[in-house]
Amino acid sequence: MCGIVGYLGKSEAVPVLFDLLRRLEYRGYDSAGIAILNGSIQTSKAKGRVDNLISITPEIMGCTGIGHTRWATHGEPSSENAHPHCNCEGSIAVVHNGIIENYIELKDKLIASGHKFRSETDSEVLPHLIEEYYDGDLESSVRNALSHVRGSYAIAVVSTDEPDQIVIARKDSPLVIGLGNNEHFVASDVAAILKHTKDVIFMGDGEIGVINGGGVKVTTLGGGSVEKNIETIDWDPESAEKSGYEHFMLKEIFEQPAVIRETLSGRISSDGIDLDAALPNVRRIVILACGTSYHAGLFGRYVIERFARIPVDVEIASEFRYIDPIIDCGDLVIAITQSGETADTLAAIREAGSRGSQKLGVVNMLGSSITRECPCIQTRAGPEIGVAATKSFTSQLAVLLLIAIRLGSERRMITTAEMNDLAAGLRQISGNIQRVLNDAARTRECAKLFAGANQFMFMGRGANYPCALEGALKLKEISYIPAEGFAAGELKHGPLALIYEGIPVVAIATKDAVYEKMLGNIKEVKARGATVIGIANESDTEIERYVDHVLRVPDADPWIAPILSSVVLQLFAYYVAYYRDCEIDKPRNLAKSVTVE
Ligand code: F6R
Repeated sequence: MCGIVGYLGKSEAVPVLFDLLRRLEYRGYDSAGIAILNGSIQTSKAKGRVDNLISITPEIMGCTGIGHTRWATHGEPSSENAHPHCNCEGSIAVVHNGIIENYIELKDKLIASGHKFRSETDSEVLPHLIEEYYDGDLESSVRNALSHVRGSYAIAVVSTDEPDQIVIARKDSPLVIGLGNNEHFVASDVAAILKHTKDVIFMGDGEIGVINGGGVKVTTLGGGSVEKNIETIDWDPESAEKSGYEHFMLKEIFEQPAVIRETLSGRISSDGIDLDAALPNVRRIVILACGTSYHAGLFGRYVIERFARIPVDVEIASEFRYIDPIIDCGDLVIAITQSGETADTLAAIREAGSRGSQKLGVVNMLGSSITRECPCIQTRAGPEIGVAATKSFTSQLAVLLLIAIRLGSERRMITTAEMNDLAAGLRQISGNIQRVLNDAARTRECAKLFAGANQFMFMGRGANYPCALEGALKLKEISYIPAEGFAAGELKHGPLALIYEGIPVVAIATKDAVYEKMLGNIKEVKARGATVIGIANESDTEIERYVDHVLRVPDADPWIAPILSSVVLQLFAYYVAYYRDCEIDKPRNLAKSVTVE
């Protein structure tokens, strides 16, 4: 969480930093700030959005600067707690993303030796610590200071003593350098700098970089030399723009036909499924993920067990890392993560690796931390800026289907007919998503009717159950309406008690092996007064007799239909939040990438 940025070049730094911060705002939006070097260090900080910062910032000239957009962990959102933080003399400024775990101990020592603190943050120990170890050379002082720090960090540091230089370092928090024409950019992720350059250097863990007019020099924190590759990002800069849509979330929902086409491109042929990484032959698979990616993992379990007949466990990464998991070299652990930076998911896959298991990532963000932990399959969804995951989720579902088919064919568990059906279904999926989107007006009208509801239930069975969980999560995170997703077969074991006259229940009732049972569950909630919104196939003529409102998806293979239903649920959540006038792209208290525990 939090985004850090930096600029060093020939242009005025302030507008560039504001542009970078705006693009990184999805990482945190409690407060923001900048520091510019121009003889002295001039800072500007504000509580709230980057736009607030822009409105209060006076003219500050200077071609070198750093900036920060914050998601508060230590200390409330306020301009005092906003970054950059400075040392006592105001000659060193630091922006930090991560958590300094031993900050209390460090702060006590620094206060005892005379340092004066101005904020409640853990991050403020950094400029004071650098000041404490300052030996006339910023790089070596940062190196020295960091050797006393425990925790995670991506930092950018400037000092008035070395005016044309930015020192950066990372451990467990992402950091990338963009190489422009005689100018350099620093950011927490590539999406922020795409407009300025596509040539980047990804900083690795335990590395420190010095950026100045002479270029970039990267070494290890221990002082060892590091050869860095310049990578060219092939994402279209337009993909990180709103392109006329009112919200990134809506744009990203509408991008899904193209995204899924890209996810599948070149991966399905008459020879089978071609993926970026080998799939080892294992006894068991354990899927680790958080949030929306965890819901994709639940879907992964259904399809891998169905088509490859390999037992699959799906674990919430933050639980897995602390349960002393039983895991060994006969297991394949698959970490699913859009950002590739989720702290719990990274820690969980490391934990699994340390116990000997084989590892695989399913990831969207290019160059993210998970790509350095294990072989990865890219979901190819492109930059996802809306905090609520949409296109990354459906692309994860598509990749998991490919994994299931590939494992099934390697183990000869899937018949040729099944494989052909799935391959044919996947080839049609983009067109079918487009049809769902063409019907967005109907979903919008339906969402409008329910925008005033104060509670929702979502139910599904089989592969539609993870969709029900995801539909509920999408709705609650952007509309703030309490929503519960559950397996419809569980109704009588508890959730039925929540049904009252008029409560909206979204029932995913596409045609599959448990369709009849789903109709039974719909009857149960209807009998107790619920208003049911059914998601059903286009050819289903029966459903209208059971539900109050129907949202349609094209007829599709039952293992592919959840992708289509998910798009309807995303649109539904979007429009409910829209009619409630919610901040859709930046929901309350959330940030896009959870890089702290
Ligand atoms: C919800 C959402 C989150 C993320 C979760 C994991 O819309 O986006 O629940 O899915 O924080 O993030 P990644 O996939 O980046 O590991």
